[in-house]
Amino acid sequence: MQVFVVFLVAVVTAVSAASSFSKDPALEDPWQEWKGLHGKQYSEETESYRRMVWEDNWRFIEQHNQEHAAGKHSYKLGMNHFGDLTDQEFNKMNGFRPDPALRKLPVFNSTGSTVRPKSIDWRGKGYVTRVKNQGTCGSCWAFSATGALEGQYFKKTGRLVSLSEQNLVDCTEEYKYRNCGCHGGFVNIAFQYVIDHGITSEQSYPYTEKDDKPCRYTEQLKVTSISGFKRTDYKDEKNLRDAVGTVGPISVSVDASTFKLYKSGIYFNKTCTQSVNHAVLAVGYGKEGNDTFWILKNSWGLDWGERGYMRLAKDKDNHCGIANQAIYPII
Ligand SMILES: *[C@@H]1O[C@H](CO)[C@@H](O)[C@H](O)[C@H]1NC(C)=O
Ligand SMILES: *[C@@H]1O[C@H](CO)[C@@H](O)[C@H](O)[C@H]1NC(C)=O
Ligand SMILES: *[C@@H]1O[C@H](CO)[C@@H](O)[C@H](O)[C@H]1NC(C)=O
Repeated sequence: MQVFVVFLVAVVTAVSAASSFSKDPALEDPWQEWKGLHGKQYSEETESYRRMVWEDNWRFIEQHNQEHAAGKHSYKLGMNHFGDLTDQEFNKMNGFRPDPALRKLPVFNSTGSTVRPKSIDWRGKGYVTRVKNQGTCGSCWAFSATGALEGQYFKKTGRLVSLSEQNLVDCTEEYKYRNCGCHGGFVNIAFQYVIDHGITSEQSYPYTEKDDKPCRYTEQLKVTSISGFKRTDYKDEKNLRDAVGTVGPISVSVDASTFKLYKSGIYFNKTCTQSVNHAVLAVGYGKEGNDTFWILKNSWGLDWGERGYMRLAKDKDNHCGIANQAIYPII
């Protein structure tokens, strides 16, 4: 409650700040175009505040990309549908919860595997469905879970089926599982649910971006279940690499606090921490010049990043906590 009051005060202060803000007339056309492109509509009271935030983001992008051209950054930024959000608002969406219980899981062991590819991209091998969009619901954990399940289901059956995030959002909130729907969740709890009940397809149980519906899953809808899940070794990028290289796409989590306007390139930023707050899917890794990277599938639609994907610096001290919470299901 206290948090809510503080937030309200912040918005009121921000909105009154906006009334004294003077718009940059040169940005009028880009603003109208951007609103049209992303279907943004505002009330009269909020438009001026959103324009102010958007202009700040616009200028931040311009500045960053000029510095990128001068060789100061490894990646570019670009305007996208998050362009009217402050960093604080953006980070309220990052709904991943790291689970201390994860440490007790069995660990992936690559000692026996003979083939360790130098680079891999599971997208080209049929393991990965189209990029999805979680919208304004903090359900990244569900998208990360379905991504890993889709890959292992393909590996087992040769069929690529888009699986239902809404199934996980609606059905892991009850007492037994304790996820929080659009307010965050654990990927391992989602997997536990799939062990107990199975999971259905996106088509049978479509995404609604909300968490106010009771669970509508029934046994007849089941596409697959799993027998268990494993994790990779804590903070060990080599162990994660072997898992991604030999098992398939792996559910991972990162500190995504500074990812809002990422457009392209290999992401590296010293301000990225080890406190993970967003779950994504590692679908491969590779090398460009001397720089190695992870290929991450996100759930923020096609407008964000490299058509929905990010390349994140690899072998740079576990950048953004990439190897802190990596797990995958066993079908
Ligand atoms: C993997 O297995 C080998 C041989 O069985 C063992 O020596 C090693 O400690 C294991 N590694 C991990 C990370 O469990
Ligand atoms: C790192 O991210 C922060 C916050 O987005 C940004 O201000 C800074 O310019 C970035 N640094 C680099 C080297 O990209
Ligand atoms: C890679 O590193 C080597 C040795 O440090 C250097 O000579 C070479 O120019 C680098 N290549 C690229 C593409 O940066």
